[in-house]
Amino acid sequence: MAEIKNNNAAGEQAKCLPRHIAIILDGNGRWAKNRSMPRSAGHFAGAENFRKIATYCQEIGVEYLTVYAFSTENWKRPEDEVGGIMRLLDKYLREAISDMEKKHIRMKVFGDVSRLSPELQSLVKKTDEITSHVEGFQANICLNYGGRAEIVRAAELYAEDFASGKVTEPLTEKMLSDYMYSAGIPDPELIIRPGGEYRLSNFLLWQCAYSEFYYTDTLWPDFSEKELDKAIAAYSSRDRRFGGVKA
Ligand code: FPP
Repeated sequence: MAEIKNNNAAGEQAKCLPRHIAIILDGNGRWAKNRSMPRSAGHFAGAENFRKIATYCQEIGVEYLTVYAFSTENWKRPEDEVGGIMRLLDKYLREAISDMEKKHIRMKVFGDVSRLSPELQSLVKKTDEITSHVEGFQANICLNYGGRAEIVRAAELYAEDFASGKVTEPLTEKMLSDYMYSAGIPDPELIIRPGGEYRLSNFLLWQCAYSEFYYTDTLWPDFSEKELDKAIAAYSSRDRRFGGVKA
């Protein structure tokens, strides 16, 4: 894992660095509109920013970054916008596939991939294969993802295993966690939403039970490394009691 830098807010707060940060990528459309550009240009800038922020997370020692790139509701957008986002995902997955081993990056897609094109599905399969033998920083991209659907899917998988006798114990929280896309990954300590909205939009509903939230008006394509430092510094100053009281 990359050494934690000391010349930034995150470095100073190294002891409080979250292991897992999750981000709702919001504001691409408005970013483009502010520049009289098409929405697709906003998504392009958003995807470039994902690469920048993921690289920074890896550098400072964050272990997992999960981003909400496309929700189950985003299919309602105009066909050309959806097509543009899918083409961007295709481009980024291909680039990731050629870089993952060299850069020690693992990559997972969370969501129902069956609705994606066969090409995208095979790219997702390839990233899974590489992830199974690479160690290091892990980026999770939520694609055709919905938090409620993830919980229903986990419950169905458990029910199948119980019915077939593969599992005999009654369901526990830990067991259900192991049926989520995020199985084996710690819950995000910090969830960031740029773009000025104050809602979760069906993101990581199971995993966010004790997450700290950070909201900013900055639009996602403008969300810089400095902004991430600020979010981590805010997280570090929070008093996390997990329902208990301070000693
Ligand atoms: C939300 O902004 C953004 C999306 C629905 C798409 C996000 C997708 C990408 C950045 C492209 C691919 C991603 C990766 C990880 C390679 P919005 O369009 O709702 O913005 P608005 O609220 O300003 O209209």
